[in-house]
Amino acid sequence: MAVLVTGGTGYIGSHTVVELLNNNYDVVIVDNYVNSKPEVLNRIFKITGKKPRFYEVDCTDYAKLKKVFQKEKITDIIHFAGLKSVAESVAKPQLYIDNNIGSSKVLLRLMDEFNVTNIVFSSSATVYGVPDHVPLKESDKIGGCTNPYGQTKLDIEYLLKDYAKEHKEANIAILRYFNPIGAHESGLIGEDPNGIPNNLMPYITQVAVGKRPHLNVYGDDYKTVDGTGVRDYIHVVDLAHGHLCALKKLEEKPGLVIYNLGTGKGTSVLELVHAFEKANNMKLPYVICPRRPGDVDENYAEVSKAYKEMGFKTKLNIEDACRDSWRWQSKNPNGYDK
Ligand code: NAD
Ligand code: UD1
Repeated sequence: MAVLVTGGTGYIGSHTVVELLNNNYDVVIVDNYVNSKPEVLNRIFKITGKKPRFYEVDCTDYAKLKKVFQKEKITDIIHFAGLKSVAESVAKPQLYIDNNIGSSKVLLRLMDEFNVTNIVFSSSATVYGVPDHVPLKESDKIGGCTNPYGQTKLDIEYLLKDYAKEHKEANIAILRYFNPIGAHESGLIGEDPNGIPNNLMPYITQVAVGKRPHLNVYGDDYKTVDGTGVRDYIHVVDLAHGHLCALKKLEEKPGLVIYNLGTGKGTSVLELVHAFEKANNMKLPYVICPRRPGDVDENYAEVSKAYKEMGFKTKLNIEDACRDSWRWQSKNPNGYDK
């Protein structure tokens, strides 16, 4: 009776594993460490006092993953494993297709073979493409993805929909994450990007820790409250909790369900900068730069469906996320590399 967590040593995966262990789930992690470190497992143990079973396996490797299914009694899957860099996906689209779509196909094949009915999938707000309105509802049109990474998420959503049509017993939760930020309050786990961060919060914390001279604010002429881009930043611990809500929802045998996971509230780049300064009592140098290609003015979620149907509601706010991101970064200036 175990939950298989693919990509369970990654940023969102590790926080979800902590929530699962703290709620007495039996957890099996599969990860190939392409974007994470073994040290994560020690940190999970420090936080929870529990050691999930771990297999270093590439999820695109059917034969190796099958051995895990043979050994473990898997009842549910949370599928985080995937590559997520927009820039890398533009340079190497085939890698993203092979890894992200390939691993999902292998998992679905094994679900079928081993009669595993329940799966939660990490999708993204990126499937909405360039939104013509906010907040975004699950029923809004999807498609028009602006990069190969986003396209893999959309394609996997369609794979899952086709699988659900053919497998009436399957229960599938597609979770569309908005912008996860923050870290576990212990400061022991958090986001550990390779190289120069693409995303806003890890860039901010690297400026704060002195690794980068200033933040580049990409554009101040958007049609927003202060001209800078607006996003829906959700604390990663709230996001992790959303996966437990989804597992519970799947116990009701709903078939395929889709939920946005966000706060429903937009925050601009400068609002986040100022919240970070206030929460951590420091000044953050920034420079206004040209817009980043592909960015949109505003993006935030309509969150009432996740609340009504699975009782999901965020508990933490932007200040909590700023404080926790900084605690993680300041305690681990080089991430998991000591
Ligand atoms: P992450 O890179 O920290 O975690 C992904 C994990 O999957 C890593 O530990 C990596 O080593 C592992 N992995 C990748 N390919 C694998 C494979 N073939 N076999 C086994 N393990 C593999 O990323 P994250 O931020 O934790 O994101 C988790 C999931 O959520 C991803 O699917 C991502 O696309 C999705 N998502 C993330 C965000 C975000 O902003 N972080 C937003 C929307 C959706
Ligand atoms: C980006 C990706 C999206 C992906 C998501 C999570 C792009 C165009 N979009 O979303 O597909 O699902 O990350 O990985 O890459 N910003 C700055 N300075 C920075 C970094 C960001 O001003 O150094 C601004 C951006 O212009 C944006 C906001 O901060 O307005 C958030 O950016 P980011 O964290 O990269 O997230 P998204 O653009 O929403």
